[in-house]
Amino acid sequence: MEVYLDNNATTKVDPEVFKAMEPFFCHIYGNPNSLHKFGAGTHPKMVEALNYLYEGINAADADDIIITANATESINTVIKGIWIDKILNGNKNHIITSEVEHPAVTATCRFLESQGVNVTYLPVDENGTLDASLIKEHIKEETALVSIMWANNETGKIFPIKEIGAICKEAGVAFHTDATQAIGKIRVDVQACNVNYLSFSAHKFHGPKGVGGTYVQKGFELTPLLHGGEQMGGHRAGTVDVASMVGMGLAMKLATSEIALAYEENHVKKLRDKLENAILEIPETIVIGGKENRTPNTTLISFRGVEGESMLWDMNQKTIGASTGSACASEDLEANPVMNAFGSDSELAHTGVRFSLSRFNTEEEIDYAITVIKNAVNRLRNISSSYAYTPKDHVSQL
Ligand SMILES: Cc1ncc(COP(=O)(O)O)c(C=O)c1O
Repeated sequence: MEVYLDNNATTKVDPEVFKAMEPFFCHIYGNPNSLHKFGAGTHPKMVEALNYLYEGINAADADDIIITANATESINTVIKGIWIDKILNGNKNHIITSEVEHPAVTATCRFLESQGVNVTYLPVDENGTLDASLIKEHIKEETALVSIMWANNETGKIFPIKEIGAICKEAGVAFHTDATQAIGKIRVDVQACNVNYLSFSAHKFHGPKGVGGTYVQKGFELTPLLHGGEQMGGHRAGTVDVASMVGMGLAMKLATSEIALAYEENHVKKLRDKLENAILEIPETIVIGGKENRTPNTTLISFRGVEGESMLWDMNQKTIGASTGSACASEDLEANPVMNAFGSDSELAHTGVRFSLSRFNTEEEIDYAITVIKNAVNRLRNISSSYAYTPKDHVSQL
């Protein structure tokens, strides 16, 4: 049996989405900017896609959506756009973000720091949660942007976006959220949460890879990252990949319907909890960050004495795909920065395995995964030189 439990890395394209994309390769292939019927023939489906996209996040209007290549491009565009508008051409020089953002945000902020921008990286608590009052505390006259993710990719922890939106609105500071891991898992409502900019990637919600988007609230600036043609109202140059846009639109519609989100909250969560509870029967395992306030599909679990990569290797032998909580940098294993950020000890930070489910997982798959995982932990602990010697008081710190 093959079991894919790495849906926070990417998801399978929904067959319905794939079917909707197919005509745009060999039949309706005109350039959407051409005036003839081959180009104009793409328009109705592009308009429909934009409608699905803005409705999916409860934006006010289809014009509020800009198609990009992925969330990374969207995040870069927003943060660098604010840098150009408010920092280089304005009088502000400060950005607030968190210590647990995806590298698309962190590396962009680090780059801006190298250009002289002041960036505050807010810490999270031992549960991986951000206290919204910290934002209020750190906003100052020079703050140009607050950028905080909606849900964390590793722990699934959901951040207090509504509170942060209200704080930013009151302070008159632009608020961007990276909602890449939230869309299709929980309700995302930009108007209810006073979000000014939002980034997403289609392949995280059963759409195609290589396409994403940015929400920009009316009245807020977006300086383009890519200059060229007048596509996307001049906000993002380059011929639009119509097939991908159509696929993303339908994927958004399917993933954000009431039925789909209820399915996540009930069925997907039930499978995640079944997997998690069975794993927690294994001695010296914990859910990193605890069980509260997470997306329904994600769990990050530490197996004391077992390297995350070894677990992945064993599971891969049995055709189960998950991912390690720790990044593998060339030959050295680096401790997971997210786990470090909320105070995990270094051993714990090396033993995290992330399991992320989707609506395509079945109960049989989870039963199979539980057996494989239990056997793998047993095997790896038996051959571990360090596990048997773990002193009891150290264990109790778990
Ligand atoms: C929270 C978050 N933000 C941004 C990204 C970047 O997405 P993409 O690689 O599609 O640009 C990811 C991808 O894993 C993510 O999990």
